[in-house]
Amino acid sequence: MSENLRRPIVMSGIRPTGFLHLGNYFGAMKNYVAMQDEYECYFMVADWHSLTTHPDTKALKENVRTVLAENIACGLDPRRVTLYCQSHVHETAELYLYLNMLAYMGELEKTTTFKDKARLQPDNVNAGLLTYPVLQTADIILHRAQFVPVGKDQEQHLEMARNFVKRFNHRYGEVFPEPVAFNFGTELVKVPSLDGSGKMSKTENQNATLYLRDSDEVIRKKIMKAKTDQGPSIPHSEKPDYIENIFGLMKLVSKPDVLEYYETAYNVCTIRYGDMKKQLAEDMVTFIAPIREKAKEIHANPNYLEKVMKEGAEKASTSARQTMKLVRAVMGLNYFEGT
Ligand code: TRP
Repeated sequence: MSENLRRPIVMSGIRPTGFLHLGNYFGAMKNYVAMQDEYECYFMVADWHSLTTHPDTKALKENVRTVLAENIACGLDPRRVTLYCQSHVHETAELYLYLNMLAYMGELEKTTTFKDKARLQPDNVNAGLLTYPVLQTADIILHRAQFVPVGKDQEQHLEMARNFVKRFNHRYGEVFPEPVAFNFGTELVKVPSLDGSGKMSKTENQNATLYLRDSDEVIRKKIMKAKTDQGPSIPHSEKPDYIENIFGLMKLVSKPDVLEYYETAYNVCTIRYGDMKKQLAEDMVTFIAPIREKAKEIHANPNYLEKVMKEGAEKASTSARQTMKLVRAVMGLNYFEGT
């Protein structure tokens, strides 16, 4: 395909720490799946990034395989997207090195995620943690991606990526587009946790988070434990947060008429939360179980996962080599033919 007929390029990374949950599914995965035909997609498991917070690598291989299996089970098709592992594309490290010379200490130290992580692991404030946004920039621009489907928490990293790109282009020559955060579709979905406190999370309040690997029983148990109350006594009253959350989850996985039934019951003060949660639990099981089983099946097939990783690495490396050729040329690091 000639350069100007190419589909717009999309890139995103997934850290192989923790299991995917419903928030990841509706916040990211669903977006990725919807984009795979209209865009040229590069989705990467960020195993190098995980070393900044998880230096012990005993569980790494297993976690990478799990994340890959879960992503494929959610509908990512390795034949239609480039699904690969960061450490398989060595050009990333080279580009990271060049970008490090354009990144200033002051701006890196000011990054919110750096400050948060430094606070969480005061005994391991390593340089990789400081330059995390530089490595992330390398991931993105290695494929000259324009769009990065990520949530709000990554906005600052993307702003930094645009700054690094501007500096590079200005100093050496226009090689990279400025990447922007991107949300496919209309509304940004926030998946509430089951205890009424914030969003579902990979690490915090695990009992209030529904994982894509949870058994039917665990799903039911978690939902039945969600906080409710006696129900409203005044028609059409406002919902407390924890009740709003249950409706929010129902909106994601239940049929519209089911949701409407409970909305009406709420508004006329006849709602029974026990019944509502039972219904939600069953609809959630119907939603999660097939993904869980598919992920299990993929995970149990090491040959298939190896093939996916190898093919992904090959496709990503092809794109990376093209970019790095341009990079070395504009930087004057092409000492002889073929570099
Ligand atoms: N920093 C991202 C996160 O914490 C993961 C990531 C690594 C990423 N490289 C990326 C996201 C490139 C988008 C693009 O979730």
